[in-house]
Amino acid sequence: VKDKNGTDQILLQNPKGASVKISLHGGQVLSWKTEKGDELLFTSTKANSKPPHPVRGGIPICFPQFGTRGSLEQHGFARNKMWLVENDPPALPSFDATGKAYVDLVLKSSDEDTMRIWPYSFEFHLRVSLALDGDLTLISRVRNINSKPFSFSIAYHTYFSISDISEVRLEGLETLDYLDNLQEKERFTEQGDALTFESEIDRVYLNSKDVVAVFDHERKRTFLIRKEGLPDVVVWNPWEKKARALTDLGDDEYKHMLCVDGAAIEKPITLKPGEEWTGKLHLSLVLST
Ligand code: BG6
Repeated sequence: VKDKNGTDQILLQNPKGASVKISLHGGQVLSWKTEKGDELLFTSTKANSKPPHPVRGGIPICFPQFGTRGSLEQHGFARNKMWLVENDPPALPSFDATGKAYVDLVLKSSDEDTMRIWPYSFEFHLRVSLALDGDLTLISRVRNINSKPFSFSIAYHTYFSISDISEVRLEGLETLDYLDNLQEKERFTEQGDALTFESEIDRVYLNSKDVVAVFDHERKRTFLIRKEGLPDVVVWNPWEKKARALTDLGDDEYKHMLCVDGAAIEKPITLKPGEEWTGKLHLSLVLST
């Protein structure tokens, strides 16, 4: 399918009717729906979907830089580029395709623009898969096909759709150290409890365990975020003032989104020539009664 700007999109569907929509622009997941048709990812009604602008919502991929931690544009260039569907990707030995709908995309450092700002040859293979139970998995493989080493950071900037930011709870980050993008003294330690939200938050939690959970009582649903190869977790909500400053986010929409990203940021990943890195994000929904 194509969106209104003519950008190709891919729709994955499982036999029960759950679905995932992915745009070739940015290799960005734009929608993840349950078998009943409930949308699980937030997308702004004001989103600008005209390339190279990334859509405000879904799962933009920040690569090879996170935020402004480097000399590249904010969050790197991968989310602004056109990815290609890859019909014959390098084999992924650990992948069990049973009952899964999936697609393989690839981003290569072939264009001059990219080479000028980041002069390394790489291949970024992305497999997006939707399981029979509705779980969504993104497997990234970054390969160095350069003659010198390079380093990168990565984040799956996941916008979860939530009932109300003041009502949700995030568990799994208790007692961790974090970097706070809103404060000058950068490093802090999280005290005791699960996180709740009452103002702007923009943090990178370091070395978290492999599962974190967003509890949304009002909607009686919990998102489980499982990750491999991604030690850090970004937590972002712009709150009222920042939301007003973002032209592609409605003034009140911050209430209905929470970004929780599986990421590798504090310690960038270094690949020698010929080496490959794999990172995996696995999202599932648990309904409570
Ligand atoms: C967060 C950053 O992860 O992403 C924030 O830490 C930033 O500082 C936010 O504002 C959104 O970024 P962007 O480029 O998509 O507006």
